[in-house]
Amino acid sequence: IPGLDQDVRTRLSTIEQQAAETTAALRDSLRVLSAPPEQVALGVALREHCRAFSDRTTITAQVITLTELPTLPRSHIQALADAVREALLNVEKHARAHSVVISIFTLRGGVAVMVSDDGVGLGDGHTRDTGLGLASAFDRLARIGGSLAVAPNDDDGVTVQAWVPA
Ligand SMILES: Nc1ncnc2c1ncn2[C@@H]1O[C@H](COP(=O)(O)OP(=O)(O)O)[C@@H](O)[C@H]1O
Ligand SMILES: [Mg+2]
Repeated sequence: IPGLDQDVRTRLSTIEQQAAETTAALRDSLRVLSAPPEQVALGVALREHCRAFSDRTTITAQVITLTELPTLPRSHIQALADAVREALLNVEKHARAHSVVISIFTLRGGVAVMVSDDGVGLGDGHTRDTGLGLASAFDRLARIGGSLAVAPNDDDGVTVQAWVPA
């Protein structure tokens, strides 16, 4: 429309962009909904831990799935979910964080789950040898050929990354 007010143009293009984003989100949701149950089981388990964590703390928490995921055996999903539950318990107990992000993605032919907080960090006396929680998550992952890494992150907080082969 010729002579359209610049303000109106800007708002229209914002609406256009939001509509495009909504369509993309809807398409993703439909894809997830039509995926077989095994392919969403990990996301469902992690979202459940995330929701419980949000209910009992004031720390913002979200789960982000970054890539398509291969189907995993039950034992692998369980080991990842256990590691995430322990990592979230640690955020609650030790981190004094404002927010935590749980991301899921494919890595080295398997699946990795990363729990990153923006809390106080590990300090000096850390490591998985200092407590039982991370050590048992580590053992459980190792038994199925997976791994666990605990490290400082750019937000001065802690990132725990659990990995399992597919
Ligand atoms: N998110 C975190 N922020 C700060 N410190 C952490 C975090 N996660 C773990 N730690 C440190 O690592 C130690 C080991 O953790 P863990 O093995 O789960 O034992 P526990 O929780 O029983 O102390 C903790 O005692 C704590 O000092
Ligand atoms: Mg612990």
